[in-house]
Amino acid sequence: MASAGDPVGLSAMRYSRVAMWFHWTIAALAVLNIFLGFYHEDFGKAARAWMMFIHKSTGVTVLGLSLARLLWRLGHRPPPFDAVLRPWEATLARITHWLFYGLLIAIPITGWMLSSTSDRPIDFFGLFEIGTLPVSRSHAMHETMEEVHELLGKLMIGLILLHVAGALKHHLQEHRHLIGRMGPWLYRGR
Ligand code: HEM
Ligand code: HEM
Repeated sequence: MASAGDPVGLSAMRYSRVAMWFHWTIAALAVLNIFLGFYHEDFGKAARAWMMFIHKSTGVTVLGLSLARLLWRLGHRPPPFDAVLRPWEATLARITHWLFYGLLIAIPITGWMLSSTSDRPIDFFGLFEIGTLPVSRSHAMHETMEEVHELLGKLMIGLILLHVAGALKHHLQEHRHLIGRMGPWLYRGR
């Protein structure tokens, strides 16, 4: 709604502070985990073990935050898409956003299943242990979960590229305040 400090009502077109906090915290942790997942093998034994320790703890954090975000999101409507978006663009953005929610939950769960095949609990940042999931401890299960976890990780990278390309394209072309919808630092309602 327009107010004295926001004469054209742009603040009604922005995500709330809670949505922004969830967005940027989870995005940063997920990108860190993609890096740790793909590159840990390029390091020595001790560094690899440490990177996997951080990877698993961060991954479980992403799972918890994403479940909380999904529950919160189901009760809070996002701001409407800007009218400059063509209908197919709005549909693609909507599909991308829901796929993100799905992946941000499915990837850590498959990681947890993968780690459970080795029958070792997760040491959560050295604070406490999280038990294993009831999955088979067989080699075949380990291989399958490794494949699925990696495939979903690659899908996530594709989706991030699509999402960022879309955001930048619209921001730089006809829709200059777009990133400000999700960026607390770019537009303050003045
Ligand atoms: C791992 C990285 C990222 C993930 C998982 C992610 C996920 C999401 C999700 C799920 C939404 C929809 C929120 C909702 O309606 O519930 C969203 C919106 C948005 N994201 Fe991201 N995001 C990521 C990175 C980025 C980056 C790097 C940018 C900036 C270039 C960005 C800019 C935006 C913007 C501007 C919106 C609002 C779109 C609109 O409705 O106009 N995101 N993101
Ligand atoms: C945001 C969450 C997560 C993301 C984005 C993610 C992503 C990845 C990626 C991209 C890989 C590399 C796949 C490969 O090249 O084979 C990987 C490996 C791995 N992830 Fe995750 N992961 C996440 C959460 C988790 C969680 C919660 C766990 C376990 C509790 C986990 C356990 C593993 C393990 C054990 C590997 C090593 C596979 C191997 O090298 O043998 N991940 N992860």
